[in-house]
Amino acid sequence: MTAKLIKGTEIREQILEEIAEEVKQIKEKHNKVPGLVTILVGENPASVSYVTLKIKTADRLGYKEIQDNQPEDISEADLLALIDKYNKDDEIHGILVQLPLPKHINEKKILNAIDPDKDVDGFHPVNVGRLMIGGSEVKYAPCTPAGIQEMIVRGGVETSGAEVVVVGRSNIVGKPIAMMMCQKGEGANSTVTIVHTRTKDLAAHCKRADILIVAAGVPGLVKPEWIKPGACVIDVGVNRVGEKVSEKTGKTIAILRGDVDFDAAKEIAGSITPVPGGVGPMTITMLMKNTLNSLKYQLG
Ligand code: GUN
Repeated sequence: MTAKLIKGTEIREQILEEIAEEVKQIKEKHNKVPGLVTILVGENPASVSYVTLKIKTADRLGYKEIQDNQPEDISEADLLALIDKYNKDDEIHGILVQLPLPKHINEKKILNAIDPDKDVDGFHPVNVGRLMIGGSEVKYAPCTPAGIQEMIVRGGVETSGAEVVVVGRSNIVGKPIAMMMCQKGEGANSTVTIVHTRTKDLAAHCKRADILIVAAGVPGLVKPEWIKPGACVIDVGVNRVGEKVSEKTGKTIAILRGDVDFDAAKEIAGSITPVPGGVGPMTITMLMKNTLNSLKYQLG
């Protein structure tokens, strides 16, 4: 059997079209567009490429976007003042501070300074709390977990009563996606297990999963014999395992590998996400959706 591929690149296009249509309607009715500021401190190459992609996507959707680049040696006080400025700006609906930040800046302090109503990353403790409560309390689900849930739903996978096993307990992916899948409601209502580095028998847990979500950051961790036949496998891992020259552009690019042994797993799973082109493209898509939602909350 060969699994159905759940492609993030395709789902991204569907969602971006839906967002573009909503943006058009809001602009006609209210003469307003979603505003997103991306604050980048320093020149970390991975951060620069993430931010460039975010800005490109916002541009494509007709958002007001500000790319606010700051020097590596900006003081914590100056960064806090910058956030305060954007917190007060009515045309800015989403504030994103690209992580990681330089060592002299307290990341927690910075993230906590963002107005929770503009925290489109969903990292502020207030939004983490809202996610825990669930239902209509949730304003901004963090982008990668939100993207994972969209892929599961749009991939036609039944979640109600499903055994979901999440491999990894990070604050950005593992914990929030586990919480989201066990809430009441569409695309959720699942029975959830979180497994991690101290779990005694990882394989035994994974084998029970109807939906296996792997966010461990360990290339090829999940073996094909750990997968229940017909299961949905969501691979969140984006591991750089080497470099190659792109046939298309002639440039040197990273060779990416997921946390799942894809070639073998696709013969057993019912559906599976590829790496690259799976969960990756969904994160920025959901950032755009959160920013649109922020404008909609402002409009009431
Ligand atoms: N750095 C890597 N991923 C992310 C993300 O999703 N949000 C922010 N703010 N920084 C990141």
